[in-house]
Amino acid sequence: MARVFSAIQATGGLHLGNYLGAIKAWVDGQDEADCFYAIADLHALTIPKERGEVGAHTLELAKVLLACGLDVNRCTFFVQSHVREHSELAWLMQCVTSMGELNRMTQFKDKTQNRKFISAGLFTYPALQSADILLYDTDKVPVGEDQRQHIELARDTAERFNSRYGETFVLPVASIPRAAARVMDLQDPTSKMSKSAASEAGTIFLSDDPKAILKKFKRAVTDSESEVRFDFAEKPGVSNLLSILGAATGSDPASIASGYSQYGPLKVDAAEAVIEALAPIQARIAELDNDPSGVRAALKTGADKARKVAGVVVERAKTNIGLLVD
Ligand code: AMP
Ligand code: TRP
Repeated sequence: MARVFSAIQATGGLHLGNYLGAIKAWVDGQDEADCFYAIADLHALTIPKERGEVGAHTLELAKVLLACGLDVNRCTFFVQSHVREHSELAWLMQCVTSMGELNRMTQFKDKTQNRKFISAGLFTYPALQSADILLYDTDKVPVGEDQRQHIELARDTAERFNSRYGETFVLPVASIPRAAARVMDLQDPTSKMSKSAASEAGTIFLSDDPKAILKKFKRAVTDSESEVRFDFAEKPGVSNLLSILGAATGSDPASIASGYSQYGPLKVDAAEAVIEALAPIQARIAELDNDPSGVRAALKTGADKARKVAGVVVERAKTNIGLLVD
């Protein structure tokens, strides 16, 4: 069975884009491969945070991911900082990654814009990400397009390590799910839905109630025509609605379009599909709110399983480098 690894940063306020673009593929992938999924809390520290903030977000995110359907009996789900090997291998990977490679990372360039304090961690972030992946002898890394460059760096540096020190790491490949919707903002359909949008009216949070969801869809920006057609370049608003409806119901957005001759019913159907998709998740979040120790127990199970695999790989790396063994 192929080994899969992916991680999501511990930031608050998950939205529909996170769910349809990433989390749903994690949940659906659980039985198709041996999956390791982590909450990347160490990566969250690369941008300065208040004391306690990352821990609170980690627990919240763990709850939501379990509510979305991650099942500790079908995957290994854990918090990155609970498995020390991530920090340990990150150092070894920093030493086979060049400044030039890190300088070329577009995410680093984006994240440093208008920022006064730029941590060294933000610069070496991709080396920690390489460690995350390589620790589990990963074959495939399901991520959004924005992460492709980081996965390619992990592969390049793993290859360099192997040729310097001997066969140590499995070379991973990125798998970018084709069907995963890139969900756009309902108020500005040319920008990605994001929790940091100017107005919350364009973002559907997983915690939004049915009334709020319907209202946001009804107010969604479309265009001044009335033709329903799947064409992101010419009709971004309408295409976004079709794409959300398609992703939520498992159908093809282009073929759904022919069923509509007006925007109103499309908006309502998209809202209802999202309300229906989120209802069981929201019910499960409410249950887990009353069971915080259950969430922690799930994370402990995952960390115990992850450590067993990661420990072996770090030792292999240190031995192959030829560090003096203790
Ligand atoms: P972020 O919160 O930006 O770190 O993203 C977490 C995960 O959700 C990543 O895998 C992203 O690719 C995915 N994601 C974030 N926003 C969207 C969006 N609007 N549409 C699709 N996927 C998204
Ligand atoms: N950098 C990824 C993001 O921002 C999160 C992440 C951390 C990750 N480690 C990873 C993704 C390892 C895939 C593999 O979305």
